[in-house]
Amino acid sequence: MNFVVVGAQWGDEGKGKLIDILAENVDIAVRYQGGNNAGHTVIVGKKEYVFHLIPSAILRPSKTCVIGNGVVIDPKALLEEMNGLKNRGLLMINRQLKISCHAHVVMPYHRIMDQLRETKRNQKIGTTGRGIGPCYSDKIGRMGIRIIDLLNPQVFKAKLQDNLNEKNDIFKKVYGHQRYDFRKIYEEYLNYGHRLKPYICDTALFLNEAIDRNKKVLFEGAQGTFLDVDFGTYPFVTSSNATIGGVCAGSGVPPIKIGKVIAAVKAYTTRVGEGPFPTEFDQKMNNLIQCRGQEFGATTGRPRRCGWFDSVLVRYAAIINGVCELAMMKLDVLDGLKTLKIAVGYQYKGKIYRNFPHDLEVLSKTGVIYETMPGWQESTRQVRQYSQLPLNARRYIKRVEKLVGVRVKYISVGSKRNEIIVR
Ligand code: GDP
Ligand code: IMO
Ligand code: MG
Repeated sequence: MNFVVVGAQWGDEGKGKLIDILAENVDIAVRYQGGNNAGHTVIVGKKEYVFHLIPSAILRPSKTCVIGNGVVIDPKALLEEMNGLKNRGLLMINRQLKISCHAHVVMPYHRIMDQLRETKRNQKIGTTGRGIGPCYSDKIGRMGIRIIDLLNPQVFKAKLQDNLNEKNDIFKKVYGHQRYDFRKIYEEYLNYGHRLKPYICDTALFLNEAIDRNKKVLFEGAQGTFLDVDFGTYPFVTSSNATIGGVCAGSGVPPIKIGKVIAAVKAYTTRVGEGPFPTEFDQKMNNLIQCRGQEFGATTGRPRRCGWFDSVLVRYAAIINGVCELAMMKLDVLDGLKTLKIAVGYQYKGKIYRNFPHDLEVLSKTGVIYETMPGWQESTRQVRQYSQLPLNARRYIKRVEKLVGVRVKYISVGSKRNEIIVR
């Protein structure tokens, strides 16, 4: 069965580790949205890998990895990531990696625009500065340059000229920034196109034909539901659909060919960048969990903000993604806490919210209704069977299941491949 892995919170739920495990039983893994704003860490043996654009399944040599049309690709970053893998002995041939000809290219002016826009805003988003928002803006605004355009010098020339005509004016007049030189970008990006050519194809056709031949596909989400441009905590979101709807538009695979949705959730909550976070810890608790969970961004190195598990949030994610199974990641980080809290509702100006509210004022200022549960003192790191988990850990998981309305099938108790419980 073909299935999707989505993040049910604000990203960094541990999707990379989960995908690495689940990829064993598929033939193909596809990224369908986002770009190198993503950072997916996978630990195999003593080696740590961080993926930004390449699907995490690349660590399994017999699998094919696809970067779908919904992804925005910074070709320089992609080539660096490919080289990094080659240098670590991972074969990278065009049978193993396929890049959509339709994917849009992150250009140097997108990266700079991302950073300049942030400096001008009063309400900063705290983007990764990778040019993701401006690249998607150009895609929707029909100014974008696609991967296939890099393979045709005439097409690329005309598009780049149009873009620089507009962008150079904006850069100069709005931001007082220097102009871009056409020739330099033109030659640099044609060269990237040349180097990526062996991997470029119509990945929508490739995927559908493979599915028709009974190949199994895993769709690898980046970011998380509350960073989704439609359903997240707008405007403190990323610029793509990280939720299930992004899968079809971002891969060219129709919904009837997708069988199942698995959501990764942390046993608590984290968020990188700005924006509302109702269950955020106080400073002391934040420092404790940040340190235990090694909560530092895999892309920018920024410390992640930490908080209690929020069932209001995750239930909403379960509804809009049609989640069939939950994977609760990083349960071990909660080992040794005396008590645990789970958010079950919000309260603001006398009104109680059981469903996720979307008014930014409510979200930013709301009080939280918590349930308190006893913690467990034992380490869960060595546990491989659900029945061997401490009783209070099982109670915690059961309560989450009940509140979210979805069964927890996978429980992760460490960053290594084997530190997983399958129920
Ligand atoms: P992603 O963006 O959803 O793929 O998540 P990240 O890779 O950015 O962040 C998750 C981090 O937690 C990574 O450093 C993983 O190695 C680590 N991790 C994943 N699962 C577990 C777990 O069960 N326990 C612990 N302690 N760490 C984990
Ligand atoms: P993975 O795939 C966590 C956040 C940024 C910022 C907002 C917008 O590792 O879960 P952007 O650069 O996308 O315009 O930034 O989104 N963000 C992430 N936070 N994990 C991610 O990816 C993220 N990708 C973007 O911190 O708040
Ligand atoms: Mg991450």
